[in-house]
Amino acid sequence: MGHEAAFDSRALRQVLGAFVTGVTVITTLDRDGRPQGLTANSFSSVSLDPPLILWSQSLTAPSHPVFREAERFVVNILADDQVEVSNRFARGSADKFAGCATRPGLGGVPLIEGCSAWLECRRIDSFPGGDHVVFLGQVDRIERTGRQPLVFGGGRYLVAQPHDLGDAASGAGANIARLKAVRLATRALVELSDELDETLGLGVWGNKGPTIVRWEEASQPVSDNLRTGLVLPVLTSATGLAFAAWLPREATAPFVEAELAHDAAARGLDAAELEQQLAQVRATGIVRLVGTDAFADLYGTSISAASVPVFDASGAMVLALTTIGNTQRLDLGEGGRLVGGLRQCAATLSHRLGARSTVAANDSQENDP
Ligand SMILES: Cc1cc2nc3c(=O)[nH]c(=O)nc-3n(C[C@H](O)[C@H](O)[C@H](O)COP(=O)(O)O)c2cc1C
Repeated sequence: MGHEAAFDSRALRQVLGAFVTGVTVITTLDRDGRPQGLTANSFSSVSLDPPLILWSQSLTAPSHPVFREAERFVVNILADDQVEVSNRFARGSADKFAGCATRPGLGGVPLIEGCSAWLECRRIDSFPGGDHVVFLGQVDRIERTGRQPLVFGGGRYLVAQPHDLGDAASGAGANIARLKAVRLATRALVELSDELDETLGLGVWGNKGPTIVRWEEASQPVSDNLRTGLVLPVLTSATGLAFAAWLPREATAPFVEAELAHDAAARGLDAAELEQQLAQVRATGIVRLVGTDAFADLYGTSISAASVPVFDASGAMVLALTTIGNTQRLDLGEGGRLVGGLRQCAATLSHRLGARSTVAANDSQENDP
């Protein structure tokens, strides 16, 4: 029967992919006792008492006639090192089991070795479901290992990790909050760098001042000298200025004073002008440093940079997200992809760390003169 939908099947697939699942291989024996199996992520729990589960199979799957008849099947829940097994059982092939270690379960149905868990089931019902058939299974035997499950979402394989947030939002110590922030931001940085193809850095306030703890480089790196652990000046780097603008004055003052007194690049700065510059940074929510030669020694070229703050649940700045690039090609325009992407990423991270709003965090600044 035809169905008129306001979306195409690709869009539907993408939306369904937003629901992340584990990955299973469903195994059984055919009439001649030969093992059959296919990769399936349609598996779901149904009932605890009685213990029931379901999965669905495409009517067009070559193995469908076998599963329609089979009395028993095993749900092998794959572990995160079994991507190869998943791919192998997702391809129509004559002998998927060749070289695949298995052991016989109830009724001789093979259990694939190395999985995260197994459910040995009896098929008790099946239901038509459009181009699929839904199989309902009663669970007879279960087993579980400590292996982490393989995850599938957005059309690709993923690994499961505990949520970084945990209790970061509920007043955990500042140091724990910062560790979580770094972990969360490290992942966000990888994605942002894939999206923007620009060099991105993650700055924290270390015991020597602004410190880059992570770089993600663009396909055309601005320099091959991107050093992790790089300590930056407060007043002449975008990352440093971001911390100067948003951290409490007590934290930054010793560094600022030392630079004003001793650092050649900063010596010309006037304290009042600096305050004005920092107020401006807070008002716009971003540091822009265009065409600075301060790092020519390090990067071998004049660079531009921009930095935006990430706040934690207490409203304190925990991280700086910084981009650096060749002055000629780095687009730091307000409406541009780069600045938009940085701002968005920082806002999302702040939100996930429990900051009520980044604007509120700006407003709660107490070190404004
Ligand atoms: C992650 C993943 C999940 C899948 N889930 C299902 C599913 O739930 N049901 C299904 O019929 N096919 C699913 N497939 C596709 C089958 O694994 C694939 O069509 C396989 O070739 C069928 O086995 P057969 O050719 O031996 O019949 C999935 C494939 C992948 C990679």
